Amino acid sequence: LFEGPVDFLKGVVAMSGLPPADRVELCFAGRSNVGKSSLINALTDRKSLARTSNTPGRTQEINFFTLGTSHYMVDLPGYGYAKAPLGVVKKWQDLLKSYLSGRPNLRRAFVLIDGRHGVKAVDEEIFSLLDKSAVTFQCVITKADKVKTTAQEAMLDQVRERLSRHPAAFPELVLTSSNDGTGIADLRAIIANLA
Ligand code: GTP
Ligand code: MG
Repeated sequence: LFEGPVDFLKGVVAMSGLPPADRVELCFAGRSNVGKSSLINALTDRKSLARTSNTPGRTQEINFFTLGTSHYMVDLPGYGYAKAPLGVVKKWQDLLKSYLSGRPNLRRAFVLIDGRHGVKAVDEEIFSLLDKSAVTFQCVITKADKVKTTAQEAMLDQVRERLSRHPAAFPELVLTSSNDGTGIADLRAIIANLA
């Protein structure tokens, strides 16, 4: 899948702008600054396919990428915190929630969790939204390079414990780093198996 062409298709600011639901779709959700856009670049081995930034709130549109000829990969705006005016943030958060609850071809949502912070209350809100919408989601731990090996098991246990309350959660976790490449091949394989 990742050997085929990967291209930016469009940035969407309203539900009416979504492309037709005619491909298998997967998306990356997570708190602002968790590393969604960086992960897309690592997965596709393209340095700046998706725009990244130190400032939370970099991605403000729903960005669609074509993955080969059969899949869409979607980079979502972050939730929880953003350095942007409140009204603007509210607009993109509403769009994010509409998207996550109303996209018929969404095969799996990858919800990214910063390995240093674990699952927060805002993440659980998104988990519950996905439960309600019956969208299978899988947690991807990011920034593994910033977590000491000795702290990793406890962090993974916290995430597992939180997920156990959510029926739409796919139990397998993926530990990744976009910086050093940890887990990237594993995640590619998981995505390639989503038909
Ligand atoms: P929003 O679009 O604002 O919601 O953020 P995002 O989730 O797309 O995060 P983005 O990919 O822009 O990355 C945010 C910051 O985290 C950037 O400064 C990245 O360089 C950094 N970052 C992302 N992935 C990693 C990682 O694996 N390790 C480390 N150490 N830093 C990372
Ligand atoms: Mg982003």
